[in-house]
Amino acid sequence: MTRPVYLDCDTGVDDSMALAYLLASPEIELVGIGGVHGNVSAAQGVQNTLRLLALAERTDIPVAVGANDPLVGEFAGGAPHVHGANGIGNIEIAETGAGPIDEDAAELLLRLAREHEGALEIIAVGPLTNLALALERDPELPGRVAQVTVMGGAALVPGNITPVAEANIAHDPEAAQAVVTASWPVTLVPLDTTLANVLDEADRERLCAAEAPIARAVGAALDYYFDFYVAEYGRRCSALHDPLAAAIAVGGMLPRTAPAVPVEVDVTDGPGRGQTVCDLRGQRLGPVDREGATVRVVLETEGALAPHMMERLLALRAPDAEANVA
Ligand code: BDR
Ligand code: CA
Repeated sequence: MTRPVYLDCDTGVDDSMALAYLLASPEIELVGIGGVHGNVSAAQGVQNTLRLLALAERTDIPVAVGANDPLVGEFAGGAPHVHGANGIGNIEIAETGAGPIDEDAAELLLRLAREHEGALEIIAVGPLTNLALALERDPELPGRVAQVTVMGGAALVPGNITPVAEANIAHDPEAAQAVVTASWPVTLVPLDTTLANVLDEADRERLCAAEAPIARAVGAALDYYFDFYVAEYGRRCSALHDPLAAAIAVGGMLPRTAPAVPVEVDVTDGPGRGQTVCDLRGQRLGPVDREGATVRVVLETEGALAPHMMERLLALRAPDAEANVA
């Protein structure tokens, strides 16, 4: 039996990889997708999601627009220098006519949690505003959800948007604090491990020549993203943030070091704002789960994601009617 998954994303380039990976994963079924501000506006991210789903002929999956602003403050304009002005590396995917559903993302999540009582799994790879709004609207939500996997934070490494804060958490620290302190099991997949998993140019070229249009679109979108990462790695390649969270959630990748520890998000206005403060004291001799801790912090994985992800993306078959990727 496949496990029901709700994906919450700010569809940029690595979100697109995560989406393609999830569509290629037989263990789970995507039952809904919510869009949130982050790499681009919530509306633009949803457009990207809808067009990618159309390439895969999966417009049956409901997509909802979510929050365009964080709980505190306003959408800051996204990350065009990382993901391109449209979020998907400025590639063009033909419009499909498919639109988002009428519910907002938090409503969709709440409804799916009721429909899949106790079984729904959440994968969140953007700022956590939609999840926080759902928690605010229904504090009973955690009891209906099997697990939450979040790409976000930096436990023992620097941040990527401030010296200490990772982008998804920094874009809505108040929401992140609500999510990591709610009474559901959270697996946090931070920069510590996402930056250690990289996709190289040879793999990107294989994606560009893949059978499935969505895999080819991901390969094309990565072209822009690879340029951004030259400053980080000294060569054209990219980190695998969102697909790593997706693969850990699905079970395709296993955490090697992932202690459950107290985690708080800094919501002050000082230089620590957005930092994920993970209490990793006492872990020198090996991972130790702290009593009562509900957040598991993935510090290391078994093996590398790239070969596993490539196998799944290259195995995707072309739907009958080819969509149009430029
Ligand atoms: C995270 O921020 C976004 O730019 C990526 O899509 C990823 O979710 C990495 O910090
Ligand atoms: Ca993302």
